[in-house]
Amino acid sequence: MIIAVSIGGSVLTSDLDPERIQKYADSIEQLAKDHTVYVIVGGGRVAREYIETARVLGANHAECDVIGIDITRINARLLISALGSRAYIEPATSYPEAVKAALTGQIVVMGGLIPGQTTDAVSAVLAEYVGADLLINATSVDGVYSADPNTNKDATKFDTMTPTQLVDVVMKIDMVAGSNSPLDPLAAKIIQRCGIKTIVIDGREPNNIIEAAAGRHSGTLISS
Ligand code: UTP
Repeated sequence: MIIAVSIGGSVLTSDLDPERIQKYADSIEQLAKDHTVYVIVGGGRVAREYIETARVLGANHAECDVIGIDITRINARLLISALGSRAYIEPATSYPEAVKAALTGQIVVMGGLIPGQTTDAVSAVLAEYVGADLLINATSVDGVYSADPNTNKDATKFDTMTPTQLVDVVMKIDMVAGSNSPLDPLAAKIIQRCGIKTIVIDGREPNNIIEAAAGRHSGTLISS
């Protein structure tokens, strides 16, 4: 299979613990024995701190986004370091570049691409672009909920849902300022338009990525 794995910065690099990053690299390497794997890495706490500081200094949203993208690429470089020669040497900076890099047989790792979105959208577009069979979103919640579980006690988790249900849920959560959506709205729309099978899992345990690829998970399966 061709698999795109999106790993939130919050689970991969928030504490910059080398052992933790190595465990993700080991899981990705394991997955790449049987599959073509693309990894998209988020910005996490470090990106949020840089963006906050830039905002206070007067940077506008787009400028802050560019800083966020740089941090996602630095995080991608950490995963590349941990993967060693199994990884393509540089984070891909466009979708065609990612495809060309994969032709080397190495694991392609990348961060963000353009302002106005998050790495959720990058992973969905990449999955569509490369014709991935599966998109795994490894994040700091254990699936997609009907509302933000941090602020709404009545929120219930979906074991399965359709892409259209995903779009409805994400749009609803996104309307409430400060809420955390499991996927950004653009990612949800891309998943809807290409119908790619997507699994949202608790990414705090690196082994869950391998389990999800094998169809074993306790997250949310998004499928039409
Ligand atoms: P993330 O993808 O980590 O966003 O990118 P996030 O929503 O903060 O992280 P998760 O999903 O909760 O883990 C970090 C920041 O980088 C910029 C955005 O500002 C984003 O908030 N970014 C990232 C872009 O502007 N474009 C991209 O393609 C990716």
